[in-house]
Parts: sequence; C-alpha cells; structure tokens
Amino acid sequence: MRITVLRTAQAVGHAVAVDVAARVRANPRLVIGLAAGRTPVVLYRELVALQRRGEVDFSEATMFMLDEFVGLAEGDRRSYGAFLDRVLISHLDVDRRRVHLLDGGAADAEGECLRYERAIARAGGLDLQILGLGTNGHVGFNEPGPLVERTHPTRLAPETRRANARQFGGRADLVPARALTMGIGTIFRARSILLLATGRAKRPVLARLVEPRIASRLPASVLRLHPDTHLFLDRAAAPAAVLTP
Ligand code: GLP
Repeated sequence: MRITVLRTAQAVGHAVAVDVAARVRANPRLVIGLAAGRTPVVLYRELVALQRRGEVDFSEATMFMLDEFVGLAEGDRRSYGAFLDRVLISHLDVDRRRVHLLDGGAADAEGECLRYERAIARAGGLDLQILGLGTNGHVGFNEPGPLVERTHPTRLAPETRRANARQFGGRADLVPARALTMGIGTIFRARSILLLATGRAKRPVLARLVEPRIASRLPASVLRLHPDTHLFLDRAAAPAAVLTP
C-alpha cells in the first residue's frame, strides 16, 4: 500500500483530483466507484473545478456509488445518492445512463444487490474505487466482523450510525439501521483503489491500519493486500508510524 501524507485535507482533495483527472484523460471510459461521506467532498469540488477549466471530461466515464442507506424515500436529501448528486454528479457532464445508484428503497434488497453486482460486471469491473474510512475501519458499509464478498444488505454498527448522525439532525436513532454496500470483494476487484482519510478523528484507526501485522478485525486491512492501493492522508490523520518511518 502506497502512502502519501499531505499537509491539509484541501491538499489531499486536490492531489487526488489531479490523479483521477489524469486517469480519465488516459482512459475516458474509466469506470469509477464513488464513496459518499465528508472526506471526498474536497476531491469532488476539485474535480468539478477541473472540468470547468476544461482539464477533464467525464462524458464517457461510468460511475457506481459505493453504498446507500435502506429505507429512505426516493430523493431523500439524506440519502448517499442525493448527496453524490449534490456535490458531484449534477455538476459533471457525465451521461446519466452511466451513473449507477444503489436503490435503498428496493422492496427486494437482495435482488437489488444482485442487479448492481451484474451491472458492475457488465461495465467491465471497476477501474478505480474512491474510498473513505470509517473510524471503526469500515469501508463502504463493510463493518468489522465476517466480511461479505459481493454487494449485499447489511446492519450498521452503532458507531457508524453515530458517525452518520450529522445528516439526520444529530440523531443517531434516525439513521437507518440497514444499508446496501458493495462487498469487500467488489471493492477489492477494482483495478486501483484511492483511499482517503483526513482529520484527527481518523488517526487511531489509521495507526491500526499501518501496523506491521495486519489487523484482522479491520475491514480496511484487506486493502493492504491489494496490488494498487494508494492511501492519502493529511497530517492531522497521519499516525506517528507514517510520519517517522
Ligand atoms: C461512512 C460511509 C462510507 C464513508 C465512511 C467515512 O459511514 N459508509 O462510505 O466512506 O463512512 O465517512 P466520512 O468520510 O464522512 O468520515
């Protein structure tokens, strides 16, 4: 796993945007997995800015969201789909037919996950997956515990519901208890992974992630075994072990 530490979260967002834009220029039909959450917001703003300056064109790219809450009404502003639309998709020249969202309102959650997994396969798999990191080491909504390979419905850890309370007026009890998420294998099969973590709150989990021994209770640890994972941190998130090798 390659690790880059930059001074600020802004610098992380900028560097990753430059990296993503270069990949899209090299392969305009890039298939990109998109994480929601606070961490990639700077990245998404920077991508929109790069597009406005004519430095990147997403019109042939394909996008797949990483995860979604179960049980919110269609178009609910608190859904990850609505969030991604607000911060990124609605500002890009991307073809809507190539933007794939998980439907958290689907009556048949298992069927929806199967449909999604097939859509990723039909697109030729993910070329690039953008990821944030949960304070408990989750990626997408793959919580600590037995890992599931494919896109699947899952139950959220209390910690994850608390971490997502902000969009729900600060009330963890209003955060849906269930979600749909790409599986750990779906993510792992992406040809390249860009994992972003910024801010002091992520430092403890990162300290565990970079320990010499692989922490088996940390879903993100799987990414260390991937041939092309690049972890981007700001200084606030960086544990001592990566600052003083
Ligand atoms: C959330 C989401 C992930 C996200 C992660 C980090 O619960 N399931 O998609 O990447 O946790 O979120 P944040 O970037 O807001 O810290």
